[in-house]
Amino acid sequence: MSDNNATLTVGGATKDYAVMDGSVGPQVIDVRKLYANTGMFTYDPGFTSTASCESGLTYIDGDEGVLLHRGYPIGQLAEESSFMEVCYLLLNGELPSKTELDDFITTITRHTMVHEQLTTFYRGFRRDAHPMAIMCGVVGALSAFYHDSTDINDPVQRKIASHRLIAKMPTIAAMAYKYSVGQPFVYPRNDLSYTANFLRMTFSVPAEEYIPDPVIVDAMDKIFILHADHEQNASTSTVRLAGSSGANPFACIAAGIACLWGPAHGGANEAALNMLREIGTVDKIPEYIARAKNKDDPFRLMGFGHRVYKNYDPRATVMQKTAKDVLEKLGVNDPVFDVAKELEQIALNDPYFIEKKLYPNVDFYSGVILSAIGFPTEMFTVLFALARTVGWVAQWNEMISDPAQKIGRPRQLYTGPTQRDYVPVEKR
Ligand code: CMC
Repeated sequence: MSDNNATLTVGGATKDYAVMDGSVGPQVIDVRKLYANTGMFTYDPGFTSTASCESGLTYIDGDEGVLLHRGYPIGQLAEESSFMEVCYLLLNGELPSKTELDDFITTITRHTMVHEQLTTFYRGFRRDAHPMAIMCGVVGALSAFYHDSTDINDPVQRKIASHRLIAKMPTIAAMAYKYSVGQPFVYPRNDLSYTANFLRMTFSVPAEEYIPDPVIVDAMDKIFILHADHEQNASTSTVRLAGSSGANPFACIAAGIACLWGPAHGGANEAALNMLREIGTVDKIPEYIARAKNKDDPFRLMGFGHRVYKNYDPRATVMQKTAKDVLEKLGVNDPVFDVAKELEQIALNDPYFIEKKLYPNVDFYSGVILSAIGFPTEMFTVLFALARTVGWVAQWNEMISDPAQKIGRPRQLYTGPTQRDYVPVEKR
């Protein structure tokens, strides 16, 4: 709590509201008593000025382009850590010792298989179903398969559900892909790392073994780290809101996946690559820049802009370098990468983008890498969901353990008709 109070005068009556301090970042005015004191709500569509919870997981300074997980800068984690270590950090608050990390990896590895009957569930989907549609359905259905980890009041069950979700997500995602291309599902292999195992389950076929390339495994692991958590974004808030009613973790994560699917959120990586392909050549860029600036055209530069970052997204910096490494390693000369780099330069020097503080976000380059690795665009958001699962799960656990937690229940400014009498249909 800060020494300061915020004073608000409404209708001649003045009341003080406590100002709360975080460890870093903006202070927060505690308005919980506002309605009781004044009979008024605050109005904040899109939560642009509202802190919905306390959290110790992730900190973003959007003006400075800073992203910290449990205090550690994203650049350091992406360059020096591994996705499994970041998962442990997000879930437990501290980096693991060697033994803790080994134990954690063993636990996750032992949970990678899914109930065999789940394969029947997949077969109910059309072959051309979007893999995100499959993800929403299959992850939601996990609560029908793992009844022994749905009691949210039991910390042991919460832990098992968290491990199951992180461990099974690559298997479920790879199965969604395999189903869409008509290939047999591939079982996980415990001698491979989390990320290598995922690549193998996605790209190997019974007729030919797939040996994961260390450069690709490393790039994929970085992409997972860069997407692991991002504070109270739309899908995380969805998970928290769903969880606030006491819903089981599998249902909550399915809700998060549904929210992530939208093109303004996780779907932007798919939309960004589609846009770069549509632009096609560097000479077409000015035409698209003009469209993005035209108020009468709904077109936006996908992979550009962010609600919180008003400076370069620090994840985009790592992503751009990784894209270069992967394309070089694979010997891919994809013109889409040239279009991306040139578009970035033009936009960064254009007064419209400068004035509105629009910079490339994490999704601008991720599609270029994923496409070079061999993923179809429909799988991009699935990969985001896979990586973000740890963030969702960690935030959900934090919320359940928070004594201030209540069921989420926003209020509204009602602008509909006032009370009126029903008129029978023959008299209307
Ligand atoms: N291209 C052109 N103009 C833009 C763009 C863009 N990508 N993004 C924002 N603007 C303009 C917008 O038209 C508005 O102009 P004005 O003030 O004249 O009306 C101004 O910038 C502010 O935009 P906003 O929509 O009020 O900002 P927001 O904070 O609500 O939206 C955003 C943030 C990410 C939804 C938006 O920037 C956007 O739609 N970007 C493209 C989609 C995208 O890349 N999303 C991925 C986000 S990062 C991954 C994730 O966290 O999921």
